[in-house]
Amino acid sequence: MNTDHVIRTFVEYFEDRGHRRITGSTLLPPTGDPVLFTTSGMHPLTPYLEGRPHPLGRRLVNVQRCLRTTDLEEIGDSTHLTVFEMLGTWSLGDYEGPLSLDWGYGLLTDGFGIDPGLLHATVFGGDDRIGPDTASSELWQERGVPVELTVEDNWWDNGPTGPCGPDSEIFIWTGATPPESTPTGDDRWVEVWNHVMMRHRRLDDGSLVPLPQRNVDTGLGLERLAAVLQGRTSVFDCDLFDPWRRLVPALWELDEPSLRLVCDHLRSAMVVIGDGVRPANTGRGYVLRRLVRRVLTVLWRDDPSRGLGDLPDELILHTLDHFRQEMDTDDVRRSLIEEERRFSRLLERGRQVLARPRFRGPLDDEDFHYLHDTHGLPRDLVLSLRPE
Ligand code: SER
Repeated sequence: MNTDHVIRTFVEYFEDRGHRRITGSTLLPPTGDPVLFTTSGMHPLTPYLEGRPHPLGRRLVNVQRCLRTTDLEEIGDSTHLTVFEMLGTWSLGDYEGPLSLDWGYGLLTDGFGIDPGLLHATVFGGDDRIGPDTASSELWQERGVPVELTVEDNWWDNGPTGPCGPDSEIFIWTGATPPESTPTGDDRWVEVWNHVMMRHRRLDDGSLVPLPQRNVDTGLGLERLAAVLQGRTSVFDCDLFDPWRRLVPALWELDEPSLRLVCDHLRSAMVVIGDGVRPANTGRGYVLRRLVRRVLTVLWRDDPSRGLGDLPDELILHTLDHFRQEMDTDDVRRSLIEEERRFSRLLERGRQVLARPRFRGPLDDEDFHYLHDTHGLPRDLVLSLRPE
C-alpha cells in the first residue's frame, strides 16, 4: 500500500464517521503565532481546541505537513524526519477518547490489515494532579491490546503553556521475532498514533485549568505507518523515498547515515522553499539555511566539487507534487544554488581569515566574537574549518 493509498484510506474512514476534511496544510503557522513552523497536526487548530467554533463542525480530519527542528540531531535513525506528514483527527467537544481509540484500532487492523497481536498501547498512569486514564485502559483491555502505563511519556503539550492532556499512544511491533517487552523497554515498538485527550490548559504559573470543552486530538505519522505497511524497517525505505534512493547514490557516493541526512534535509528544504521561505539569518529562513548548509557540509567533506546544481529535476518535482505545492522547479533549484554560493564564499573567506597568524593558536571568546561580528563567521563554522 503506497502512501497515497494510506492517505485516502485514512481520510475516507473518518469521513464515513462524520468527519469533514480540512484542506490546505502549509508549514507556516497563522500570523501572530510565535512558533516558526507548524510542528503537529493540531497546531493550526489551537483556537478551536480552546473553544472557538470551527466552520467545518466538531469532527475533523486532515493531512498536515509538519517540521520539527527538535529532532534535527536524530535524523539518520529509522523513525525521524525533519519534514513529515501527520494524519490527524479531531473531536472538538464531540465524542470522547475511548471511541477515538476504538476507531483507531479498527482502522489499523481492519482498514490497514495490521495483525492485532502486533499492537501495544501506552496510557497515562496518573500523577499528583490528574488521575490515571482508566477509560483508555479499559478500552484497550476490551480489545485485548496490552497496555503500559507511563506518566511523562503519556502527557502531551505543545510548549510550556496552552492546551494539553493525557494521551494514549499506539505502537506497532517491527521486530523480526515475536513481540516482546513493552514500548519503553524495546525500541522495536514504534509509535505510530497518538490520541490526546485534550481537556486542559496550562497557564503561565504552571497550573492546569479545564478547557471549555473535552476534545480528542490524534496524530498518526504517515511515513512511519507507510514503512510498517510496506514491511520496511525505516521511514527512509518507504515509497516516498524511492526516487531519492535511486537517484542520489547515482550522483554522490555516501554512507547510509549521510545518505539519510542528505535526503531528509534536501527534501525538507524543498518543501520549506515551496511554502515561500528563503534562506536568511533569522527565523524560518535560518532554519532553511541550516538545512542546506548541513547537506553541503556532508557533501563537501568527501568531495568539494559536488554541487546542488546536479540535483535531478525529478526529485524536486516529486517533492513539490507530493506536498501539493505549485512552485516552479527552477525557482526551488535557484534558491538552493544561491545558498550554496553564499556558503561557499563564506567558507573561502573563513579559510583566509583563519590562516592569519593571530588565529593560529587556541581561540578565546574574544576571537570568536571578532570572527562573527567582523567577518560573519559563526562559531560552528570556525570550528568546522579549524578542528581543535
Ligand atoms: N498533538 C498530538 C501529536 O502531535 C496528536 O496530534 O502527537
